Amino acid sequence: MRKVRTAVFPVAGRGTRFLPATKASPKEMLPVVDKPLIQYAVEEAVAAGVEKLVFVTGSTKRAIEDHFDVDAELERALEQPSKAELLKTVRSIVPSNVSCIYLRQGTPLGLGHAVLCARSVVGDEPFFVHLADDLIYSDVPVLQQMAQHYQAHGVSVLGVETVPADQTQSYGIVAVDKQSNGVNAVTQIVEKPAPEVAPSNLGVVGRYVLTPRIFEILAETGEGAGGEIQLTDGIAKLLSHEAVHAFPFVGKRYDCGSKLGYLRATVEYGMRHPELGDSFRAYLKSVGDD
Ligand code: G1P
Repeated sequence: MRKVRTAVFPVAGRGTRFLPATKASPKEMLPVVDKPLIQYAVEEAVAAGVEKLVFVTGSTKRAIEDHFDVDAELERALEQPSKAELLKTVRSIVPSNVSCIYLRQGTPLGLGHAVLCARSVVGDEPFFVHLADDLIYSDVPVLQQMAQHYQAHGVSVLGVETVPADQTQSYGIVAVDKQSNGVNAVTQIVEKPAPEVAPSNLGVVGRYVLTPRIFEILAETGEGAGGEIQLTDGIAKLLSHEAVHAFPFVGKRYDCGSKLGYLRATVEYGMRHPELGDSFRAYLKSVGDD
């Protein structure tokens, strides 16, 4: 079985739900405590064994490139004994064996189109797609859990979780055939169906392992929901060629594409933070007492 060596991060979206914060800076650079969302994403991919990070970017996204690049001036300024820890933090953002590639998605034609933009750099290999808005806290990073499933079965894998029945219009929704070996084979996938027509309330969240066949399919996929080229529609067509598994990962997801989800993540990552956790919990308790 081929190892999954590449992760694609579609980061061209404008993040209008967070305006004005995202007017001039990427939503993926919003910090949760002390790290931007996109760094959590990269750390998850690197933990899963990825060596090539492909960012599909757009206008106003240059800060992402700067974040993962060496900043020689900053490093020089931190070269003093009292700043040693900070220097280490700054230098270890991306391990040296991992390369970053940036592609532009000139026109925002949808998630399927963003993934298709990465075709030439991914090549004929399985790859991850990671949506940084979906921040997932877990002991074993979710992409690593999914890579293990891919190694065992060799088919595309979609990270799924049960979503509230009245929220199916926010997700790709799958129907599955539960097999005796515990595998959930996807039988149907629909982009953002209304609750009355949703085939289940099992939602795809922003984690995918995809086989390279998806590229030829996406190249021939037209506009779907919202007038965009949808990854979900490509996966629906993939089903007639190959098996696709739904994977109920272990972890707690925060929808950082919404203000409430982002606030929840900020509070809970703050409470778990090794340096700040105790004092932050004490603070929250005192707020509750007011
Ligand atoms: C995208 C996908 C959708 C998926 C969701 C997960 O939608 O199109 O299928 O369920 O991400 O977060 P978006 O949230 O970008 O509208």
